[in-house]
Amino acid sequence: MPEGREKVLLRLRVNGTEHQTAAFPSRTLLEVLREDLGLTGTKHGCEVGECGTCAVLVDGRPALSCLLLPLEMQDREITTVEGLAHNGNPHPLQDAFVELSAAQCGYCTPGILLVAKALLEENPHPSREEIEEALGGNLCRCTGYLKIFEAIELAAERKAGNVTQRRRDAEECAV
Ligand code: FES
Ligand code: FES
Repeated sequence: MPEGREKVLLRLRVNGTEHQTAAFPSRTLLEVLREDLGLTGTKHGCEVGECGTCAVLVDGRPALSCLLLPLEMQDREITTVEGLAHNGNPHPLQDAFVELSAAQCGYCTPGILLVAKALLEENPHPSREEIEEALGGNLCRCTGYLKIFEAIELAAERKAGNVTQRRRDAEECAV
């Protein structure tokens, strides 16, 4: 994208932290996150809104950072993949992705994790179809969709406490 002539001061709230940076107004949120704020977990893909690789959350909702202008994001709460962990502990989705090997090259994973986070917050018990629909805009070049869907289901079960209960049931049966 061609740069504007003069840089403007941007105030962005990302992962709960206020950032100030000067950037050309034509820069996309994706570019500012990666190149000015050093948050390189958000990935460059098609840059035209078709692959979902650059997905972040804006006020908790999935959004494509390659299509957003940071100037319009100044009063919004932006979440990137770097903001998923809490107090140094991975998000349940991250744990499930690791356990089920749901990331292959991992390039699509940050965007998918954020879209899945928004899904589970809105719908804690999504069906397989609902997961597939939510991730409809996120392309995985490695095409490992099955593991991705299973990892999201596992994280949903854990959030609901079902896995713990299932383990307890199994232990009681074994006595
Ligand atoms: S890089 Fe934004 S949708 Fe592909
Ligand atoms: S894991 Fe490689 S693009 Fe999805």
